[in-house]
Amino acid sequence: METQALTASFTVIPNRHPASAEERWIAMENPVFGKVFTDHMARATWRDGEGWADRRIVALSPLPMHPGAAVLHYAQQAFEGLKAYRHEDGSIWLFRPEANAARLAASCRRMALPEVSEQDFLAAIEGVIAADQNWVPGTPGASLYLRPFVIATEPSLLVQPAHEVDFLVTASPVGAYLSTEGDGVAIWVSRGYHRANPGGTGEAKTAGNYAASMLPQREAKEHGCQQVLFLDAKEDTYVEELGGMNVIAVRADGGIVTPRLTGTILPGVTRDSILTLLRDEGREVEERDLALTEILEGLESGAIVELFACGTAAVVTPIARLVSDDFDVAVPSREGESVADAVLARLTDLQYGRAEDPHGWMRKVVDAPEG
Ligand SMILES: Cc1ncc(COP(=O)(O)O)c(C=O)c1O
Repeated sequence: METQALTASFTVIPNRHPASAEERWIAMENPVFGKVFTDHMARATWRDGEGWADRRIVALSPLPMHPGAAVLHYAQQAFEGLKAYRHEDGSIWLFRPEANAARLAASCRRMALPEVSEQDFLAAIEGVIAADQNWVPGTPGASLYLRPFVIATEPSLLVQPAHEVDFLVTASPVGAYLSTEGDGVAIWVSRGYHRANPGGTGEAKTAGNYAASMLPQREAKEHGCQQVLFLDAKEDTYVEELGGMNVIAVRADGGIVTPRLTGTILPGVTRDSILTLLRDEGREVEERDLALTEILEGLESGAIVELFACGTAAVVTPIARLVSDDFDVAVPSREGESVADAVLARLTDLQYGRAEDPHGWMRKVVDAPEG
């Protein structure tokens, strides 16, 4: 099987003290997102002039790191997030992992890090899943969240691309990401802060973008909101994305509008998948500049009937309110007829193997147990 050929490039050194079945069961019962980790991680090391080596699946453990490691000072790193899903027959699948591999490679290029090949990316992830398959939940809506990341480990305070780099993958069983009480989440529209600027690192998945979003995220919480919506830095006019999700609007005529990928927005795999599914339905999908005023006026006039956020962690999350210093606008609830609910069902049916996979997005990692 292709999977075995790939994982064979990562030497497996099993964890000699894995969690007991009971410890695992307790840890997986109601995991807080990203707080529970499985028994293993993947790791490979890169040195300038030598390339990638020491590919291994090992026990999850702290990383011994020199305090001068470049990543700790200059955030030279890139990361990914994707999930493994257990189907009803017990088999385990990934959703479009090649897209995450391509995005990590693009992020690495932007961060002057060595690229991880698609083959190594898949082998590392599939190696961790194979080693920790008991950690993949089988409960509705739950999954195994995989966190591949590339970090500059070279001890050097010089501001220059590192000569020593590690690639790692950890895994965490997860349930729902955001708690949506009632009709959806309240979103704080950040006016003073921006997430990304032209020529910066906005379209890379890299630590600094998230560090910059912490303070506005705190501001959002102080205003009773769960997430931040950022506007473009140049004109402070156009909607870009949330701190960790893309945003999609639904027009009254059923058409879809979402900010185009300008270089300052993360190209979400969920965004792309949803746009594809909505185009499949015959809906008109516009990827273009979308001004905040167009949304606010559209909500008031009824030209825009729905807003939702999308991403791997939270999948599809309806937006119920948009809040800022000078407005607090409710997004009408469309119980039973919302595009968000319908597309969430289509996507998760596909991911959990309950529906056909017309685009060939699912990749099997572990077969169903026999018998
Ligand atoms: C800033 C940002 N935007 C959008 C997304 C959604 O991307 P994806 O659908 O690939 O998870 C994420 C999550 O990865 C993100 O961090």
